[in-house]
Amino acid sequence: MTSVTSPPRGGTAGAEAHGGPGAAEPGGPEAEGALQEAFDAAVAADERIEPRDWMPDAYRSTLIRQIAQHAHSEIIGMQPEANWITRAPSLRRKAILMAKVQDEAGHGLYLYGAAETLGASREELLDKLHDGRQKYSSIFNYPTLTWADVGAIGWLVDGAAITNQVPLCRCSYGPYARAMVRICKEESFHQRQGYELLLALARGTEAQCAMAQDAVDRWWWPSLMMFGPPDDESAHSAQSMAWKIKRHSNDELRQRFVDICVPQAEALGLTLPDPDLRWNEERGHWDFGAIDWEEFRQVLKGNGPCNEQRLRRRRTAHENGAWVREAAAAHAAKHAARSAS
Ligand SMILES: [Fe+2]
Ligand SMILES: [Fe+2]
Repeated sequence: MTSVTSPPRGGTAGAEAHGGPGAAEPGGPEAEGALQEAFDAAVAADERIEPRDWMPDAYRSTLIRQIAQHAHSEIIGMQPEANWITRAPSLRRKAILMAKVQDEAGHGLYLYGAAETLGASREELLDKLHDGRQKYSSIFNYPTLTWADVGAIGWLVDGAAITNQVPLCRCSYGPYARAMVRICKEESFHQRQGYELLLALARGTEAQCAMAQDAVDRWWWPSLMMFGPPDDESAHSAQSMAWKIKRHSNDELRQRFVDICVPQAEALGLTLPDPDLRWNEERGHWDFGAIDWEEFRQVLKGNGPCNEQRLRRRRTAHENGAWVREAAAAHAAKHAARSAS
């Protein structure tokens, strides 16, 4: 969408934009109403809202919160896997894992960039992550105990992320939607490399197969929690769906993920740790067991196995990187001064 700011389309907004007789006072309630109408019409018509367009304050703050949380998850998510770079079993595996972890840093950068188009500053968002005022996905508070965890994260965690994120490519906010297109392409490589890693282990020795099964046992339930609380407890869902930030409910996406994973687990020769998994002919979906939401709430509250470790590591990395930010700022200032003179 490009036309909401000037001139706003339709009704009294047109009169205001042209300053004609009966024009609404700029910024007055009448003008605001017209802008809201134009915004609603653009969302209804599936047009993109762009940074310069007028948008309701609550839409802006919801997006900043969601995009920031997403960006934080990308950079915190580098930690559990980076833990295995030095111990990857071959040069090929090491190169793949390094590329993947670097991709996640890139995803963080695209997303902080998208949040900046809404008027949030990167420093402020990072401060909020560091002092716990903003969250990241609770999945990254679980430890990576064996090499097979790298496979399980790729297959399940990146797989769940894709299921969540593909619909975000059609999100109503342009910069977020476009960032997601790029991210999803890379996420599908992440998912494939995880699957391929697990397949190699599952077809390996008995010990390797057991290691793969153990990793899947530990990552399955937390990956189902990645879709967020059940629909009837999800605080922001309805409004986000109305704004077309979100296109499907948490439970819908979770079901889609389960339906994708069951045949893949079968192909891997691994078992999903849920005795209640059953094909439901009537629904045309897999039924699955109850999720332990108490565990989810505990991890979210900061009581997961690695919450403290992840944040401590992030703060230290930020402090250690201060000289890079200072040098980059000095370099940019020097260039700006040069081109001004
Ligand atoms: Fe990512
Ligand atoms: Fe990823």
